[in-house]
Amino acid sequence: MKPHDLVTLCANARDSADPLAAMRELLESLRKRVDEIEQALDYIPGTGGNANQVFYRAPDLTLLKVRFPAGRRTPPHDHGTWASILLLSGGEKNTLYRTDGGALRRASEVTLTRGSILNMREETAHVAECIGSEPAIGLHVYGGDIFRLPRRMWHPQTLVAHPLDWGLYENFARMASAAPGAPAT
Ligand SMILES: [Fe+2]
Repeated sequence: MKPHDLVTLCANARDSADPLAAMRELLESLRKRVDEIEQALDYIPGTGGNANQVFYRAPDLTLLKVRFPAGRRTPPHDHGTWASILLLSGGEKNTLYRTDGGALRRASEVTLTRGSILNMREETAHVAECIGSEPAIGLHVYGGDIFRLPRRMWHPQTLVAHPLDWGLYENFARMASAAPGAPAT
């Protein structure tokens, strides 16, 4: 598998009548090929900012390889579109929230391991955190250009909603990582 093969597969799923369902089906079929995906994306570091994560970006699709180091926890955030994650290695706990207006309501929790898939609808926000001593590395697929879409993030302590701002996001991530867990609501 080459990076462009992965891009083509995801772009075809994106073009279907029900993109999120098609992406789920595609990622299910790729669970058996995690080794190949890891090799194809070996050139992407996955950490150190978006430029080191993105390997495809278009108005209707963004593909990232994301590497969360041990101890890293995100603040609650949304993506401005639907999102799918296929975990390639490590362990990643996701706390999912419904966003009612600007308010967060904790909905569920899911722990991903190698080959696990998580799908999130546009109205879902989440906190992702690396669990264990190895980095959590995943293929992240989004149904739009997540660098241009309006997105939100929430202060990890006050849960006040803010428009996504990467400088502020890192401050929130440091605060979130120092907390004992994802915010309860
Ligand atoms: Fe996310």
